[in-house]
Amino acid sequence: MTKVFINGEFLEQEEAKVSYEDRGYVFGDGIYEYIRAYEGKLFTVKEHFERFLRSANEIGLDLNYTVDELIELVRKLLDVNGVKNGGIYIQATRGAAPREHSFPTPPVKPVLMAFTKSYDRPFEDLEKGIYAVTTEDIRWLRCDIKSLNLLGNVLAKEFAVKYNASEAIQHRGETVTEGASSNVYAIKDGKVYTHPVNNFILNGITRKVIKWISEDKNIPFIEETFTVDFLKNADEVIISSTSAEVMPVVKIDGEDVGNGNVGDVTRQLQDGFNEYIKTHSL
Ligand code: PDD
Repeated sequence: MTKVFINGEFLEQEEAKVSYEDRGYVFGDGIYEYIRAYEGKLFTVKEHFERFLRSANEIGLDLNYTVDELIELVRKLLDVNGVKNGGIYIQATRGAAPREHSFPTPPVKPVLMAFTKSYDRPFEDLEKGIYAVTTEDIRWLRCDIKSLNLLGNVLAKEFAVKYNASEAIQHRGETVTEGASSNVYAIKDGKVYTHPVNNFILNGITRKVIKWISEDKNIPFIEETFTVDFLKNADEVIISSTSAEVMPVVKIDGEDVGNGNVGDVTRQLQDGFNEYIKTHSL
């Protein structure tokens, strides 16, 4: 049986319980990360936990853990659960307290929880590409915080599922922001365009890796906003996330992207990503 980490303890799944008053449950008052393990090693884990602590700081949550302590913790959980290839979900909430919107005074102990799941890389989709739909971005204005409040993302993803697509590409008015659970890129004339890092998107770790690969390979990486129309007229489109990696999108709203096949720039970025897995996992 796989174990779950809650506040310092490695518990059996059926023992892993939190209070009905937990503010994550009642208000979505917390933050999370999702980290990938390849061959028993953690990929870009330092970057993930730096973002985790940044998210905590942005919501005024004092976690009392360093990046190194968090890395040790998830490494132990991977070992305990014997996970070689899979994902680690970790979240922190502001703790359990009588329901009151403002922060508990005095503060209560945050609840840190983590679990693992074994699965392989999405090779088939990486080869063939996926379908996406577009939808209005109805989320709040601090999408840079990896918050537990994911209702906008959940509704967007469900919209995609309804239309037999794997991802919903969100836009605020005409401007493409990001996917329900991914960053979005339009590739035109050999250049990669993606939304700049600000409050409208999550600063994806995979996005960061794609930026590094683009620099390595002299592929222009342009952090500027673009429109839905530009996206639909791109030569290639990709989405990226910890689980989807560098994922080609070959149809948007039922129409082929470019010639409907996975393009050359996408393949170069995927090759680069495979190299980064080897060099950035520890
Ligand atoms: N989601 N944007 C959003 C809204 C996301 O939820 C994610 C990732 C990303 C990509 O970030 P990264 O490359 O750091 O995974 C962008 C994770 C995988 C999730 O919610 O499970």
